[in-house]
Amino acid sequence: MKLTLKQCTIRPWRPDDADSLARHANNRKVWIALRDLFPHPYTIEDAHTFLKSVINSQPSTLFCIEVNGDAVGGIGIRIGADVHRQTAELGYWLSQEFWGRRIMSEAVAAFTDFCFENFQLRRIYAEPFANNPASARVLEKAGFAFEGRLKNNVLKEGKLLDSLLYARTK
Ligand SMILES: CC(C)(COP(=O)(O)OP(=O)(O)OC[C@H]1O[C@@H](n2cnc3c(N)ncnc32)[C@H](O)[C@@H]1OP(=O)(O)O)[C@@H](O)C(=O)NCCC(=O)NCCS
Repeated sequence: MKLTLKQCTIRPWRPDDADSLARHANNRKVWIALRDLFPHPYTIEDAHTFLKSVINSQPSTLFCIEVNGDAVGGIGIRIGADVHRQTAELGYWLSQEFWGRRIMSEAVAAFTDFCFENFQLRRIYAEPFANNPASARVLEKAGFAFEGRLKNNVLKEGKLLDSLLYARTK
């Protein structure tokens, strides 16, 4: 899999991404918008652990965002089970060094198209925290519809937050 876009490339993770991954992921401003599963601080050991698990997993659903030859972000889906087997949750992050250049707007739109074309999915959704308007905007621009506000859905760093439900369907 390789999506060559104007501003970035989306491709499988590789073992030699560890240094770049650890450097760009080790940022509180990235972590604060993600689940606690995403480590903080993000060490080189965390990068190796992540890469080992993702490189061996089938089907491949988690990918690297590469800019100027470096691994500077991640994008992926988690496919549901049972009655949700045609539904997937979308997640993504980008190194702060590259924010505001419309990289993720391009990546989310292209990656969602790719997922509908290559997996048997009828729904792809994302749940940005309500204090993350940039992520909500990225989803809107990629054709996701706002479906509602999930009150008190998230406990992040001791703070109770709402999250916003966005989805694209096929
Ligand atoms: C959220 C994130 C993915 C955005 O990536 P990005 O490449 O900087 O986003 P883009 O430049 O493509 O687009 C951002 C959009 O949000 C807008 N935006 C940015 N800050 C905003 C704010 N405070 N309020 C409203 N809109 C805002 C931008 O103007 C732009 O919209 P526009 O193209 O209409 O002008 C990135 O900041 C990130 O990785 N954050 C940490 C992890 C994260 O939040 N992941 C998503 C979890 S759901």
